[in-house]
Amino acid sequence: MDIHFPTKIHFADDAVEKVVEYISANFSSCLIITGGARTRSSSLFVEILRSLRTKLSSVFVIEGIHSNPREEEIIQAAKDARRHGPDCILSIGAGSVHDAAKIISVLINDEFSIEELTVESQGYNKIKNVTVPLFCVPSIVGTGTEISPASLIRIGHQKRIVFSPHLYPKAAYYSFQHIGSDDIELNVLAAFDSFVHSLEALTSQRANLWAEMYALAGIKNSLEGIKRLSDSGSSPSVWKQLSHASAQGLLAVANSSVGAIHALSDPLSGIYDIHHGRALALVAPKVLSINYEVCAERYHVVEGLMSEILVLPRSMRIPEAVEAFLDNVAPSRKVGIPEIDLSEQGMARLVAESRNPDMEGAPKTLTDDEIKTAFRSM
Ligand SMILES: [Fe+2]
Repeated sequence: MDIHFPTKIHFADDAVEKVVEYISANFSSCLIITGGARTRSSSLFVEILRSLRTKLSSVFVIEGIHSNPREEEIIQAAKDARRHGPDCILSIGAGSVHDAAKIISVLINDEFSIEELTVESQGYNKIKNVTVPLFCVPSIVGTGTEISPASLIRIGHQKRIVFSPHLYPKAAYYSFQHIGSDDIELNVLAAFDSFVHSLEALTSQRANLWAEMYALAGIKNSLEGIKRLSDSGSSPSVWKQLSHASAQGLLAVANSSVGAIHALSDPLSGIYDIHHGRALALVAPKVLSINYEVCAERYHVVEGLMSEILVLPRSMRIPEAVEAFLDNVAPSRKVGIPEIDLSEQGMARLVAESRNPDMEGAPKTLTDDEIKTAFRSM
């Protein structure tokens, strides 16, 4: 087993000052990549931009990266980035912004199509020339993409994975005073991703002692953090705990893998543009139920933690415990989702696209009927 983790992780109340200090001491120009109006008007973005503009010779901004970013917007952003020729890239925003920035850091030097970079096209053998370092500042936490070597991009209506050790960001800066949006349920669903990363890493066929260490910490901190966020609202202390959960969940996955919950969430995001955390919440209870027999021993450990932290009956099994937890912290998670095509043809597509690289470490490979049951149960 090899352990390799090149991204520096900086947790602090003063992370904004630290990232500005590091970039201004080491670079003369910076390309900032960010999301929509909500992030652009945040104090996180405004403070960093203002500070960097006083210290660097040039600062450029590419804005408007969408949730579940599309190939076309990445290609256009990479063209703009190439014109500026920055010394470094700084991504500020939610997970999709960091996903996009990783691909832009590749395309700034090499004109690949994104299809060529995907895992299915063995993109990991092509990505080598990443010379512009990437720094990430998350505005919301849970995906862990700010410290991961993977990027999720939509090509057409498919969510696709690009992976390479060269995609690890140089550093991630978690600023507890600035994290979180005013949409509490969105914050909760983003943080739920940390819980699922930890849980799937713990029960993966690739699980090992190293992954287990991070997974158990990630489960505890994500459950406690989400409960505190839901009960008492946003605070630097809550974001400190959820930032750690985000990094721990990702480190668990980096040493193990995700599984069927992620695999089934991918077509929901790719075809229907459903937010990643929401898509996970929609399929998680049923997948846990399908996996139960194979994972019972490990699930009992998590059931113990859920019972203790969430004050649930000790006899409650994990599928019901997760559903009850979500009913409490994200009661509107099913409101406003697009109508899912459950016809024979629609279901065939969902099944086919659930058989993606995220399924590879799953404790059991789901049958077509099990995948259909999971989608029908949403
Ligand atoms: Fe995830």
